[in-house]
Amino acid sequence: MANIAHPGERIPIASDHAGFEMKERLRASLVERGFAVEDIGAHSTASSDYSDFAHPLAQEVSTGAAERGILLCGTGLGMSYVANRYPGVRAAVVWTPEIAALSRKHNDANVLVLPARFISDEDALEILQTWLSTEFEGGRHLRRIEKIERDDTDSAESTS
Ligand code: RB5
Repeated sequence: MANIAHPGERIPIASDHAGFEMKERLRASLVERGFAVEDIGAHSTASSDYSDFAHPLAQEVSTGAAERGILLCGTGLGMSYVANRYPGVRAAVVWTPEIAALSRKHNDANVLVLPARFISDEDALEILQTWLSTEFEGGRHLRRIEKIERDDTDSAESTS
């Protein structure tokens, strides 16, 4: 199994009420694997607003205070909308291990977003393991992610 943790890596995790229970399971798993987990909340299943948790996590990844982070809400969508507003943040909503691997290999996703109401805890743990242990492939994918924040439309060429 690939090494998934840099020893003591600080990793922020956050959810709203819809993702709270799954967050608790993922948090326990990350602690077991040696991560220094920063739990931004939510801290219960009481109704809450995903933006309140996504902003602080995305700020950490955007500024480089954290290399990567994990967000959960019902569909994953609200969390991803907020996180992707931050420069340098590439938040990927992931629902299978295959998409987890591709979000790393091709998109260098630095925030994993899980749709807690649509996947099982088992799926979530497998997705997490895959996402943490898969490296970015670089090459043509680096050029593509660089263009996310720089509009190069004039030099667009058709390549696969
Ligand atoms: C909460 O009911 C739900 O709307 C939220 O968790 C998320 O799915 C929003 O995108």
